[in-house]
Amino acid sequence: MTSVNDLIDNSKMLQLITERLDNTPKTKAINHLEMNHELIELILDLYNDDEDFPFEKMRKFSVEDILDYLQVTHQYYLSKKLPEIEQSLLHIFSKYGQSHQLLASLAIFFNDYKNKLVDHIRMEEKQLFPYIRKVIVASKVKTVCAGSLEIDPNFSIEKFISSHSPIEDELKEVSQIIKNYSSNEAIPLPYKIFLNQVELFELELRKHAIIEDHILVPMVIELEQKLKMPLRN
Ligand SMILES: [Fe+2]
Ligand SMILES: [Fe+2]
Repeated sequence: MTSVNDLIDNSKMLQLITERLDNTPKTKAINHLEMNHELIELILDLYNDDEDFPFEKMRKFSVEDILDYLQVTHQYYLSKKLPEIEQSLLHIFSKYGQSHQLLASLAIFFNDYKNKLVDHIRMEEKQLFPYIRKVIVASKVKTVCAGSLEIDPNFSIEKFISSHSPIEDELKEVSQIIKNYSSNEAIPLPYKIFLNQVELFELELRKHAIIEDHILVPMVIELEQKLKMPLRN
């Protein structure tokens, strides 16, 4: 597997993490995240090494902190990362034209991938995050009042866990598609640049999923247990 350090050095990695904060309109949540240096530093550690990462250190942060970070990250993917990768494809298009078979395969793959990623993010934004926000509210109000919160009966954290697919894995196909077409020749530079962007994005999504699965979900389960959830009959 490509190590993180092969792709990017530490200062660039920090830049990558803070870039999502710079790219978002300044809301209270963003200001709060920007001030939360400890959280950003821990996320940087996670980007550098997720195998020995001390997950217990994340417990000092609130579920809202983690949720805010993930939500900003979704925005960053949709408004910055995906358009950047598309821009790269357009650049290749302007150099090689539509007739290039490799380009056609990549464009089909990427378009399909983008739709899947947008659906993945939409589900989290429309179901998972609102559910968690309600659990947070429930944890702050009296248990008797918690029952009156309208929780989507078709959603549960267990369902989320079982359906949360590793969406980044498919991106590995990009390198395979490019290699298949250039088996005997060197990979042209614009494709190398594109591949590099995609590999970095794959790393991004992998770390993002680790934060969702190993930090956010356990925190929510703990909150649910405190409330003796599920909050529905
Ligand atoms: Fe997500
Ligand atoms: Fe996810």
